[in-house]
Amino acid sequence: MDRHRRNRTADLLERAARRLPRREGLPDPRREALWLLARAWGVEEIRLRLEPAAPVPPEVEDLFLDWVERRAAGVPAHHLTGSCPFWGRDFLVTPAVLIPRPETELVVEAALGLRLPADARAADVGTGSACLAATLALERPAWHLAATDLSMAALAVARANVRRLGAPVRLVRCHLGSALAGGLDLVVANLPYVPTAALAILPVEVRHDPAPALDGGPDGLDLVRELVADLPRLMACGGTALLELGEDQAEAVEVLAVRHGLRPVGRIRDPGGCDRVVRLVRP
Ligand SMILES: C[S@@+](CC[C@H](N)C(=O)[O-])C[C@H]1O[C@@H](n2cnc3c(N)ncnc32)[C@H](O)[C@@H]1O
Repeated sequence: MDRHRRNRTADLLERAARRLPRREGLPDPRREALWLLARAWGVEEIRLRLEPAAPVPPEVEDLFLDWVERRAAGVPAHHLTGSCPFWGRDFLVTPAVLIPRPETELVVEAALGLRLPADARAADVGTGSACLAATLALERPAWHLAATDLSMAALAVARANVRRLGAPVRLVRCHLGSALAGGLDLVVANLPYVPTAALAILPVEVRHDPAPALDGGPDGLDLVRELVADLPRLMACGGTALLELGEDQAEAVEVLAVRHGLRPVGRIRDPGGCDRVVRLVRP
């Protein structure tokens, strides 16, 4: 590359947009190119729009073009930048954790809307990046938050996030909620819920998420089923569980919950019309 030549912002963006394929998970190559260049350069997107003739420093161009190639090959944008926003905060992400999804913010919204004791005891089962646990701990500083995961690598990312954000969360390595004592006022969980056979046909970006964060067994509900069976032990009387699920799974989970003596008290729809979160109460 000619180190003396600096490409104009607009030309570089145009070149990148032509290189990025339009596909599910990458619907707008121009928008994507702008997003990536702003992060590679460490500037606001608006500045790139307002100064299309600004020359791009060679080291920024090198990083940006490397990201564009990897993005074209299906690497998720948040793996390139190493972080992902969730409920207004940035969470570190690596290939060891699920990239936090916007629909998981529905769980936060529902949890914050509950009437719980001021010093509620809450747990996030299958915490990944700790996006749920850390957010709840920071939004409700008097709550006592525990978070579990089976993956050591995921817990390392969770630990980095709770430290960086100053979120008081007790991290525990265990199968589901098995190492947690009972008496919880709130259990939140976004466990793996993709049926195994569907893993192969997920969009290319989603296939970069770790398999243990996605694979829920033949019908997607292996781990959810096990957690629901343990909820009567984990939850205090009057306690609430908020479980994020995949499409068409809410009814099966509610039927199961009733069998375990829990009461389904509502579902939360995502913007796509899918019943994404079920709310269960221990009477
Ligand atoms: C779908 S990801 C969700 C991560 C995070 N809660 C979020 O919403 O972004 C599910 C998480 O459950 C963890 N997990 C899978 N099997 C588990 C098990 N048996 N016990 C505890 N955690 C498990 C995975 O490692 C992964 O971090």
